[in-house]
Amino acid sequence: MNLKQLVGIESAKYVKDGMVVGLGTGSTAYYMVEEIGRRIKEEGLNITGVTTSNATKEQATKLGIPLKSIDEVSCVDITIDGADEISADFQGIKGGGAALLFEKIVATYSNKVIWIVDESKMVKYLGKFPLPVEVIPYGSAQLLKKFKEQSLNPKLRLAKDGQPILTDSQNYIIDLHMDVIKEPVALANWLDKQIGVVEHGLFLNMVDKVIIGDPVEGIKIIDVAR
Ligand code: A5P
Repeated sequence: MNLKQLVGIESAKYVKDGMVVGLGTGSTAYYMVEEIGRRIKEEGLNITGVTTSNATKEQATKLGIPLKSIDEVSCVDITIDGADEISADFQGIKGGGAALLFEKIVATYSNKVIWIVDESKMVKYLGKFPLPVEVIPYGSAQLLKKFKEQSLNPKLRLAKDGQPILTDSQNYIIDLHMDVIKEPVALANWLDKQIGVVEHGLFLNMVDKVIIGDPVEGIKIIDVAR
């Protein structure tokens, strides 16, 4: 069993009957969704899922997981999602799979957030992983210029055909190749103020539990106070 599968299956143990569950996106969350699907089928688990992307919606639908949209539930009991990087103080970068907008909305309205990662995602400072910023297409060239002026080393994310990739909300992603982000709060505040930025991949003070798959130690579980 690979590490992503290990943490995916482990995280599904936190899902209990009757819960509204935020279903994350990505290659790690994939295994958690599969395991929830298995539990529904084999154990009669009874939950409602709230998906964070079209891809997860498709997967969950195939597995027969009952779904509601974020606007049809009063709140989400628990959200389980992957992450691209987690710093020593448990701040995160997400959005490598371009799903950061729905992921952040669902996490915001969740009582509890669990991130599942393999050890390689744990870093001292954020930033080696390029920070995804979702922007509306209109005016995006101006934003690129502005990010360049701020030395944020921006690159518009392109698909294989050379066209800008489109998110589930039909926006673009600009990745900031900064190498190190020593002041994530200041950067998040600045990005929040930029016109045309829909959302960014800095997930600050958003996680309650991190489940890490370690090649030597196996599963490590860290509870985060926030
Ligand atoms: C999707 O946009 C992301 O936020 C993912 O949750 C994140 O990129 C982790 O994905 P992997 O588990 O595939 O590394």
